[in-house]
Amino acid sequence: MQPEIVILAAGQGTRMKSSLPKVLHKLAGKPLLQHVISTVNQLSKTSHHVIVGYGAEHIKQEFQNDSLHWIEQPEQLGTGHAVTQALPFLSQPLTLILYGDVPCISVETLRSLLNQADQTTLSLLTISLDNPTGYGRIVRDDFGSVQKIVEEKDATADIKAIKEINTGIMVVPTELLKEWLPKLSNNNAQQEYYLTDIIAMAIESGIAIKTVSPCCEQEIQGVNDKIQLANLERWLQQCYAEQLMLNGTTLIDPTRLDIRGTVTTGQDVVIDCNAVLEGDVLVGNNSTIGPNVVIKNSVIGDNVHIDANCVIENSKIGDHCQIGPFARIRPDTVLEESVKIGNFVETKKSTIGIGSKVNHLSYVGDSLIGQNVNVGAGTITCNYDGANKHQTVIEDNVFIGSNTAIVAPIIIEKNATIGAGSTITKKVYSDELALTRAKQLNLKNWLRPTKKTSQTEEH
Ligand code: UD1
Ligand code: CA
Repeated sequence: MQPEIVILAAGQGTRMKSSLPKVLHKLAGKPLLQHVISTVNQLSKTSHHVIVGYGAEHIKQEFQNDSLHWIEQPEQLGTGHAVTQALPFLSQPLTLILYGDVPCISVETLRSLLNQADQTTLSLLTISLDNPTGYGRIVRDDFGSVQKIVEEKDATADIKAIKEINTGIMVVPTELLKEWLPKLSNNNAQQEYYLTDIIAMAIESGIAIKTVSPCCEQEIQGVNDKIQLANLERWLQQCYAEQLMLNGTTLIDPTRLDIRGTVTTGQDVVIDCNAVLEGDVLVGNNSTIGPNVVIKNSVIGDNVHIDANCVIENSKIGDHCQIGPFARIRPDTVLEESVKIGNFVETKKSTIGIGSKVNHLSYVGDSLIGQNVNVGAGTITCNYDGANKHQTVIEDNVFIGSNTAIVAPIIIEKNATIGAGSTITKKVYSDELALTRAKQLNLKNWLRPTKKTSQTEEH
C-alpha cells in the first residue's frame, strides 16, 4: 500500500540569512528538497505533495522536471496549518509527513516507520539526543506510552530535561488527520498551528502511538543555518567516501574528496586528494585520479591515468588514456583508447582517435581526429569565425608541427604532414606536406643596435 507523502517546504529559513529559499540550498551538490524527493521516490512512484510558500515559484522552477504536486501555503502559520493545505488532495489511507529541510532521512528508516503503521496507529519517528535543545520533546507516562509533544518554546524545565525528541516525521491515518487538523488552535508561545498537537488528540481518541528510531542521528538533523548545513555536508561526504572504500577504491585522504552526485568505481581505482566528482561519474578498473581533479558527468575507462589539476566535463575517456596535468576536457569530448592529452590542452566537442597525442598547449574544438595523429605543441583549431563554428577533420597518421593554426572548415587527409608554424586554410591531401612559412633570411655579421648614451642624443 502506497502512502500519501506530504513534504513541508514553505518556510523561508530565516537563520540561513539568505534570499534563497531554504530547501534550495545545496547539500552534496543537490538542493535539500531533492534529497528528500529522491528518497521518497524509492518508496512510491505516485506524485508527492510539496507544501511551498516562501520562494514557491523559484522552487517549482528548480523542480520542473519532477512530477510533484505543489500546494501553496500563502502564510506560514505552522506545521499543522501546512499539512491542512494538503488535506483535500489526500486519498490513500495513510499519510507520511516529511520535512524539506531534513534531507538525510533514509528509505530504511521510513520503511520501518511505515511497517508498523496502520489505520488505527499513529507512527512517530523519535530519537534520544544528548543535546535535545530546540526540538519538541516526547512526553511519556509511567508505562512508557507517549502522551504528548511539547515544543521547546512551550516547555517547562522538567520537560526540557527530556532527551527524547520529535523528529517531525510521522505516519498518520489520513481520515484521522482530516478529523484532527481542523481542530488545532494556535494558543501557544509561537501562535502557530502545531502539527504536534494531534498527538494529544490521538490519545483522546484511543489511537495507539508507536515510535520508531532512525538508524542514526544525522538522518533526522534539520538544516536551519549554514553551520548545520556544513556539518551535515561533512557527514554525508564521509558516508559517500566510506561506500567507495568498501567497494575497494583507495582514497588517499577520505576527508578530502567531494562527491556531488553518483560515483561508480571499478576495481583498484585510486583517487588522490581534493578530487571533486559531480553528477554521474563512472571510473573503470585500475584508473587513477590525481590531486585537484574535477570530473563532472563523465565516463572514465579502464587503466586511465588523470594527472593533477584536470577538469573533465560531459566527456568519455577511453581505456589507457593519459590526461594532464592541467588539461581541460570540455563537454562532448570523446577520447578513444590510449590517447594522450598533455598540459594546458583544451578540448571541446571533439573525438580523438586511438593512440593520438595532443601533448602540450593546444586547443582542439569541433574536431574529428583519427588514429595515431600527432598534434604538435601550440596547435589551434580555429573553429570560430566570429559568427559560426566549423569543423576540423584530421585523418589517421597525420603529423602536425608545432604552433600551427588550422582554420576550419577544413580536412587534412591521412598521412599528411604540416610544417611547424603554419596557418592552414586549405584542404591538405594524403601524403602531402603543407607549410605556410615566410622564407628565412640570414644576414651575415649583423650588428645589433646599441643603446644611445645622453651625449650622442645631444647631436
Ligand atoms: C518542528 C516540530 C518539532 C520538531 C522539529 C524537528 C512542530 C510544531 N514542531 O519544529 O516538534 O522537534 O520540527 O525538526 O511541528 N513549515 C511549513 N509551513 C509552516 C511552518 C513550517 O511548511 O507554516 C515547514 C518548514 O519549512 C520546515 C518544517 O515545516 O521544513 C518544520 O518547520 P519549523 O518551523 O522548522 O519547525 P520546528 O520549530 O523546527
Ligand atoms: Ca526546523
